[in-house]
Amino acid sequence: MSTEIKINRVAQSRIDSVDFDNLPFGSVYSDHMLVCTYKNGKWETPVISPFEPISLSPAAKIFHYGQSIFEGMKAYKDTEGNTLLFRPTDNCARLNKSAERLVIPQIPEAVFMDGLQALLKIDEAWIPTNVGSSLYIRPFMFASGNGFHASPADEYKLIICTAPSGAYFAGKVKVLIETKYARAANGGVGFAKAGGNYAAQFYPTQLAIEKGYNQVIWTDDNTHEYIEEAGAMNIFIRINDTLITSPTNDRILDGITRKSIIEIAKDKNIKVEVRKVSVTEVITAAENGDLKEMFGAGTAAVISPIAGFGYQDKDYDLPELEQPFASTLKTAITDIQTNKTADPYGWRVVVK
Ligand code: PLP
Ligand code: COI
Repeated sequence: MSTEIKINRVAQSRIDSVDFDNLPFGSVYSDHMLVCTYKNGKWETPVISPFEPISLSPAAKIFHYGQSIFEGMKAYKDTEGNTLLFRPTDNCARLNKSAERLVIPQIPEAVFMDGLQALLKIDEAWIPTNVGSSLYIRPFMFASGNGFHASPADEYKLIICTAPSGAYFAGKVKVLIETKYARAANGGVGFAKAGGNYAAQFYPTQLAIEKGYNQVIWTDDNTHEYIEEAGAMNIFIRINDTLITSPTNDRILDGITRKSIIEIAKDKNIKVEVRKVSVTEVITAAENGDLKEMFGAGTAAVISPIAGFGYQDKDYDLPELEQPFASTLKTAITDIQTNKTADPYGWRVVVK
């Protein structure tokens, strides 16, 4: 490890108060966090310290102009006690892609990776070992510099916190195909993991939840004719034996789970098409029985089968298959992530 990191440990761990058999998603936090401050044109030495509130001026630009981005990753333990990450440098690259779009300074990959690994070493006892649970990692960067002038801040922070977590969705997932609101537009920030993208989803998602759905499936902002992605995951649609997912673009997050699933599926001889898929095609397939499966793919959601969807006041149920692609692919990806199988792709990274 080449990065200098200051470490200030907790006097007393909180881990004994955590019920690892009943973990909600993302709401119990490990003992430590990593904070790295960008000031006077450079990143300072990262500090690992107890997880605690941070102090910011009410004039900090994050509050006024939403200059904020984040990532979502997971750490796993294998049966030998190794701590494992999945394609972590891809998260760092995407964080920097988001940073560029939001005029936040680039974080050097060595600082990100060394800081993350040091944090995971210190809090490794927080990594759950029960099936379906993992340590969710939330790196984020935001404007901590002050000013009401609507322009980029002069100070930023990278913070990495971790949360031992269970499943993102409790139970079956029902989605609503959106016909009015849009998550992102051409030339906008949809491809970035900008906090504001999620805030903008809350209202339409709340309306969908009131109607009994869990998430919105976003359609293109221009015509609402094409399926894009869901609130926190990319979408795969199986028509007969072909798995289809929309190509990524300006408006869609380039999901790491999505691209991994595409590779794994192809290697399992599942026919995959990366192409635009229209709502009409999905409805027609649902009506004539060709629509076999839909599932979401994302770090938090892993692979979440969709039990049914709503479109224009009508509900469509998906069939329950004996051996759905979603199960095959979920097992394949989680086995790689947790070292239950070989990793021919070189995606797994052992924390040293
Ligand atoms: N799409 C959105 C909007 C997301 O928030 C996420 C989650 O990160 C994804 C897709 C899936 O991306 P990944 O697989 O990299 O977690
Ligand atoms: C993730 O899957 O890691 C995400 O960032 C989605 C988030 C909105 C929970």
